Amino acid sequence: MRHLLDLTELSPSDLKSILDLAVEIKTLMKKNPDEYRVKWSTRLDGKTLLMLFEKPSLRTRISFEVGMTQLGGHAIFYSIKDSPLGKKESIADTAKVISRMCDIMMARLFKHEDILKLAANSTIPIINALTDYAHPCQIIADLMTIREHFGRTEGLTLAYVGDSNNNVTHSLMIGCPLAGMNVHVGAPDAEEFLPQPDVMEKASELADAAGTKVRIFKDAIHAVKNVDIVYTDSWMSYHIPDQQKAMRIKTLMPFQVTSNLMGYAKDTAVFMNCLPAMRGEEQTAEVIDGPKSIVFDEAENRLHAQKAVMLRLLGAA
Ligand code: CP
Ligand code: NVA
Repeated sequence: MRHLLDLTELSPSDLKSILDLAVEIKTLMKKNPDEYRVKWSTRLDGKTLLMLFEKPSLRTRISFEVGMTQLGGHAIFYSIKDSPLGKKESIADTAKVISRMCDIMMARLFKHEDILKLAANSTIPIINALTDYAHPCQIIADLMTIREHFGRTEGLTLAYVGDSNNNVTHSLMIGCPLAGMNVHVGAPDAEEFLPQPDVMEKASELADAAGTKVRIFKDAIHAVKNVDIVYTDSWMSYHIPDQQKAMRIKTLMPFQVTSNLMGYAKDTAVFMNCLPAMRGEEQTAEVIDGPKSIVFDEAENRLHAQKAVMLRLLGAA
């Protein structure tokens, strides 16, 4: 593993080893902080992570920065507003300069092709911290959360409902089959809300290899029937222009996760959202603040998962 740009780069065993490491680090930190300090707290001593942001963030920024601190390294937050990236300075030159000074880099960018360009010109590991196309770090934390909750991922079914032409949906469609899970996607029957065709194709191939299923539904009830996990994400992703808001709310409202919709999933089902979330849009307050919601475990696990990813990429695991 040289970079983490998209989960398609991982094999099921790569994914499993990252999840194992993330769980090991979290468990030790919580149960035996002294032992954590001895084993991990200087593991990335002298290492610097550059964090390049073209869009806002709460969880991703903080989890990487805290993660680096807790592993003994240093993180630099670099907003694209302060950067000439892609304008006065080419992406290739940016990657070459950062490679001369830092040990690892993460970037949250609009265009996926830009992160591919960064990686192609970099001699240090590059982590995709979200593009319009994929959000691999989120899904690693999600799969960790699912494993913690159910004791396994294999054989479970996750239903994602809502805007599905979406980075989180795309990465779930790849990550779930890699973890031995089935994925249902419930979305309006229109190209702008459906997963991109190349993701559908890759997800189906991975599901065939895993003996699982990826299925697309035109309505929310069929999508969530008897599933173990109901997942949704913002209807207004960072890159969606504000003027689309009214149209999107109207079109996506039949896919809102309500208590009634949760009632079609298994009794043991949980609710997930990568956050940030809008109560009254992609889910009701009753669902996200209710007993089936595990959204804050999911948010916390970003920290532990990020550490595992950085340790793996730096060969320090
Ligand atoms: N889930 C997630 O990536 O959150 P942020 O946008 O706050 O980083
Ligand atoms: N789909 C969302 C994910 C946020 C973490 C977005 O791109 O804004």
